[in-house]
Amino acid sequence: MASEFFVSSNVVFGRDSVKELPNMLKEYEAKNVMVVYDAGVKMAGIAEKVLAEVEKAGVKVTVFDGVIPNPTNEVVEEAAKIAHEEEIDVFVAVGGGSSIDLTKAVNILMTNPGPIGQYGGIGMVKKPVLPLIAIPTTAGTSSEITNVVALTDTEAVCKYVIIDNKIVANKVIADPEFTKTMPPSVTAATGMDAITHAVESYISNMATPLTEYHSLKGLQIFYKNLPKAVADGSDMEAREQMMLGCIIAGFGFSNANLGLVHGIAHTLSAHFHLAHGMANATVLPYVMEYNADSCPQKMIELARAIGLPVSGNADEDKLLLAKELRKLTKELGIKTLSEQGIEEKDLDMLAEDVLKEPVLNFNPKQGVTKEDVLAILHKAM
Ligand SMILES: NC(=O)c1ccc[n+]([C@@H]2O[C@H](COP(=O)([O-])OP(=O)(O)OC[C@H]3O[C@@H](n4cnc5c(N)ncnc54)[C@H](O)[C@@H]3O)[C@@H](O)[C@H]2O)c1
Ligand SMILES: [Fe+2]
Repeated sequence: MASEFFVSSNVVFGRDSVKELPNMLKEYEAKNVMVVYDAGVKMAGIAEKVLAEVEKAGVKVTVFDGVIPNPTNEVVEEAAKIAHEEEIDVFVAVGGGSSIDLTKAVNILMTNPGPIGQYGGIGMVKKPVLPLIAIPTTAGTSSEITNVVALTDTEAVCKYVIIDNKIVANKVIADPEFTKTMPPSVTAATGMDAITHAVESYISNMATPLTEYHSLKGLQIFYKNLPKAVADGSDMEAREQMMLGCIIAGFGFSNANLGLVHGIAHTLSAHFHLAHGMANATVLPYVMEYNADSCPQKMIELARAIGLPVSGNADEDKLLLAKELRKLTKELGIKTLSEQGIEEKDLDMLAEDVLKEPVLNFNPKQGVTKEDVLAILHKAM
């Protein structure tokens, strides 16, 4: 069967790559630029550095610094209103997935009518969007190169995704120095999101040889470098590798999609505002245990790729990855669900909502039941 593999990316990678920003803005003949970020990116001194480069291009600058984690439809509409009023012609998104996703969503509304919620799903955006330059400051979501936006619908209390090739950032400035200020907990959570992308896309029922190649390589890079980046945030080799890994793994999961881990994580974040990476990491080992039966060969391939001791006994080997992920999440200080404020009484409602997640369609194990999800959530408490 034929399969499509879409990649569209123009990445300037490395230290001081932000110096390219004025030239990029000139190339787009930008006049009114909106720079989008959040409070953490400002506190880290990154926004200031980016704004100094934008100034050099001699353009009018509008700042939107009201991004929140797991951004909502409301914040998208608020920023889009300002962008229309200021007649913005180029966007610069600086930050983690929340800042980059929000900017991609605002950009949709520059050429397509609101509300933003109508673009949920695959290929729903009608008109091409404006130029967008993405400057990632976390190493986790790959939003800088993906065709994906994840938003929170506060009315339906769920997270939903917009997947469309039209919304990919035109240029990426990937400077690993910008990730150095992430504290260990954010490094761990965002890095575990990256590991989840690599693993879930590798076993996804949409995976193809082209996506598998990127997912596997991404996992190898993350597995080797995430513990180093968490232990020593100034380890620039590890920071650089994490950022590179996100670009590589992003090419995989934006084509192969994800699975049950993300279905659970989106539900947890929608109801309890858990950080996306933390939500994924908490349940990842248990979902892999659950999935192992449906794709034993791939589980063994993943285990082998990161050097786990594959014995030849398939029944044991297919669970090696899940075991290792359990150990890794402990070492990296990933919190349990109860440590993140979830109570036993919440699990029933959560399990019911997880079943509504469209991403479950790509999970290797199909026919997921409420009892299955409850069992996973209990293990993660
Ligand atoms: N578009 C995609 O392909 C895609 C993929 C996965 C996840 N997502 C979405 O991305 C969002 C999560 O993004 P994220 O995990 O990057 O986190 P984030 O953008 O929410 O940032 C997390 C926290 O870290 C801070 N921070 C960011 N960079 C920093 C730095 N360099 N130094 C200090 N603090 C810093 C932020 O201010 C924030 O408080 C979620 O909404 C998730 O659903 C999108
Ligand atoms: Fe994710």
